[in-house]
Formats: sequence, C-alpha cells, structure tokens
Amino acid sequence: MNLLRPQIEAVTNNLIDNILSGPAEFDFHDDFAFPLPVIIIAGMLGVPEVDLERFKHWSDIQVAAMGAEDPSRYEEDQIEFFGYMHSHLMSRRSDVAAGVDVPEDLLTLIASGSDADGQLLSEADAQSVLMQLLVGGNETTTSLITNLLWRLLESPNQWQAMQEDATLIEPAIEESLRFDPPVLGLYRSTTRDVSLHDVLIPKGSKVFINYAAANRDSALFNDPNRFDITRSTRERKRHMSFGLGTHFCLGAPMARLETEIAFQAIMQRLPNLTLIGPGQRIAPFFLWGRRKLPVQS
Ligand code: HEM
Repeated sequence: MNLLRPQIEAVTNNLIDNILSGPAEFDFHDDFAFPLPVIIIAGMLGVPEVDLERFKHWSDIQVAAMGAEDPSRYEEDQIEFFGYMHSHLMSRRSDVAAGVDVPEDLLTLIASGSDADGQLLSEADAQSVLMQLLVGGNETTTSLITNLLWRLLESPNQWQAMQEDATLIEPAIEESLRFDPPVLGLYRSTTRDVSLHDVLIPKGSKVFINYAAANRDSALFNDPNRFDITRSTRERKRHMSFGLGTHFCLGAPMARLETEIAFQAIMQRLPNLTLIGPGQRIAPFFLWGRRKLPVQS
C-alpha cells in the first residue's frame, strides 16, 4: 500500500497548490476531497490524463444516479461511461494477449484476472469489478475526508490539538469513520429464517444492516454521540464502517492512507481553515457525506 504514497502525496500537493493560488473562499469538496480519490483510482486504472475530466464527471454521475428520484436522466452518461470502460478494458486485454509491454497497474490485473476455474474473467465480471472499485471507492473516501474536516472545524479545540500532535490523525480518522460513516448501512437478503432478539426474520427478507446505529452503541462506546478524537485504542477500531466478515471492504487500507496523507498536508499548508457554512449532504439515503463544504483558507 505504501507504494501508492508518493503518488497520493503528489496529487494532494497539486490540489493544495491550486487552492492556494485561487480565492480564499473555496469549496473543500469540489476542490479537494472529490478530485483526490478519483485522480488516484484513475491513475491505477491507467486512465490517460486527457480523459481525466470526463472520468471525474462520470464518477460523479454514478453517485448522483444512486440518489436520484428519477435515475433515468443519467442513463445516457452511464451508457457512455460503460462504453468507455469497456473499450479501455478490451484494448488492455488485447495488448496482454499480444504480449505487448503493458503497465503493471490495476487495469492489467483485472484484464488478465481469472476466475476460480482458471478461466479468464468474463467481460461482464471484469467490468463489474471495475465499476465496484469506482463506485465503492470514490465517493466513500471523499465523504471520509469531508466529514472529518467538517467535524474538526466545528470543534476548533480538536482541530488545534491535531495540529499540535500529528499522531492524532490516525485516531481522528477512525473517530470520523465511527461518528460519520460514509456508508450508513447496506442490505442483505436472508437465505433462511433467522431469529434475532426474539424477532423472526423470514427467509427471503431484505434486511438493512445499519452500521451507523452499531457505531453509536452505548454498550461499546462511552458517550457515543460525542465526536472525540482521543477515544481509547480499545474503542477506536470497533466501528462497523467498513462492514464485517467476508465482504469487509477491500479498499479500507487505501481509504485510510489517502485520508492520512491528505490531513498531513492540509494541517501543514492550510492550517487556518474555517467553515463558512454547513454545506449540503450528498443525496443517496444510505450514504453520508458533504456534497458541498464551503471553507476559507
Ligand atoms: C472511507 C472509504 C470507504 C468506506 C467507508 C467503504 C465501505 C465499504 C463497506 C461498508 C463495504 C461493504 C462491506 C459488506 O458488504 O459487508 C465495502 C466493500 C467494498 N469496498 Fe469499500 N469503502 C471505502 C473505500 C473503498 C475503496 C477506496 C475501495 C477500492 C478502491 C473500496 C472497494 C470495496 C470493494 C471492492 C468492496 C466489496 C468487498 C467484497 O464484497 O468482498 N472501498 N466498502
């Protein structure tokens, strides 16, 4: 994971250079927290620099469509995106098959990946892995970065404490994940009757697993409704924000690393940030993050 560090640092510093050369008031979501993970994943997927703006737009569309009352208005963009990723994947596949020297990136890994029977992944499966990485990884990391800055700026003592002691960055990231989980919950389907706390959930039910509620369980967390970056190590990582068990988030180390590097740089280069409004939340009901976060440097 640390191989990604120099690239994340470079993108982070470029974004901050742009912020510092612009107006003192800016939108932290649009100018920093949104582009950072998109640019990193685009690099890992071998998306050429010239396509970056379109790629960012398409990533945004995926989330807008999830929260829309009428997702059909995004169909055209989604079809275009699907077509783009399809030709991107196929051209890498034919390069691999022809023995052309290809970059050792995530796209090559997916393009030449095989299933449990040793067969090359079907095109549909490979495309689905690509989409899962994009949709699952981008907006969530953006939300983690915006949510953390939002709470710290609302609580200037904690922002100050972190500036004085950089070792608080890691606990602050975990506290943000607990207090403001970017994914509030996800669904599961029961494959058999299940009884929980004397309630029978019949086979074939849809159950919403509410990570956010688990993260505020007073049996596990002292004063759970308080945002506190100095929680004990024992409490710190008990949150459910990356899920649990077989489907535990594959991108958790990457999200943590991007956020850590982002805050190291923000604290050094933008130490006087202040909130100039509460911003807006993102639309999908099961996700939690800021779509806008206006700040002043
Ligand atoms: C703060 C950022 C993130 C949060 C809060 C988050 C949250 C989650 C959650 C709740 C799950 C579902 C677990 C379950 O179903 O039990 C999940 C799964 C997944 N995440 Fe993340 N995620 C984040 C970042 C990322 C990143 C950066 C990537 C990849 C680049 C990623 C890729 C995935 C994948 C591939 C899965 C499916 C794993 C499986 O089904 O085995 N996530 N994530």
